[in-house]
Amino acid sequence: MQLLKLAATAIAFIAGVEAAVNFFPVDAVGEAVAVRNDKGKGATQLYYQVRNGSIIRLCTTTAFIGNGNQKCGLQEVVPANEVMYGTPITAATLWTSAGVFHGTHVYYYSPDGVLSEYINNISAHGPSCTQCVTNQRFGVVNSSVILYSFADFKTPGMQLRVGFESVGSPGTITEATFNSNTNKWSLSVLPN
Ligand SMILES: *[C@@H]1O[C@H](CO)[C@@H](O)[C@H](O)[C@H]1NC(C)=O
Ligand SMILES: *[C@@H]1O[C@H](CO)[C@@H](O)[C@H](O)[C@H]1NC(C)=O
Ligand SMILES: *[C@@H]1O[C@H](CO)[C@@H](O)[C@H](O)[C@H]1NC(C)=O
Repeated sequence: MQLLKLAATAIAFIAGVEAAVNFFPVDAVGEAVAVRNDKGKGATQLYYQVRNGSIIRLCTTTAFIGNGNQKCGLQEVVPANEVMYGTPITAATLWTSAGVFHGTHVYYYSPDGVLSEYINNISAHGPSCTQCVTNQRFGVVNSSVILYSFADFKTPGMQLRVGFESVGSPGTITEATFNSNTNKWSLSVLPN
């Protein structure tokens, strides 16, 4: 046992791995997504699915290198019954035109293959979130894993753009776009 430990330590040294004395345990079953949540200090939000199927949020007060602590604990933000097991996961942050941080939007699939959203600043998700894309019931192609998102706030009507493989147009990428002037989601397919 002791020998194995020594060997592991030696390997860690060779690989230049920082052997942390104190670390926060993570048990993700799939992808994780991370976003900055403020302007100056590198504060970070991390989202991933855990073994029981729910989506968890972690948050640090600085970038890891700054040693800012993990201040949220393991917080379940979306319960398992609203999340497909093995879902891809992506997130976008919104900023006002004045440069003020305006929340994180997380995207994933529901168990029945509907493009779904969690809005962090109002803790909204599931069928009760009227402004979430979830309510549009945009269907995702079975076993498709493509999913991306970003905020496009240079375009008039600060927009969120979420790319996925839609059941309406299999074999290509469809973007769900949120227009903040009209407060409406719409779909458009990758043009030829
Ligand atoms: C699922 O696991 C997470 C992380 O351990 C925990 O916070 C959450 O409460 C669990 N959910 C249920 C319904 O047990
Ligand atoms: C949350 O962010 C949205 C933009 O995504 C904004 O319209 C709304 O006012 C914010 N709400 C709160 C309570 O911060
Ligand atoms: C997706 O696959 C599952 C399991 O194979 C099946 O039950 C379901 O009907 C499929 N959904 C669609 C929309 O084809």
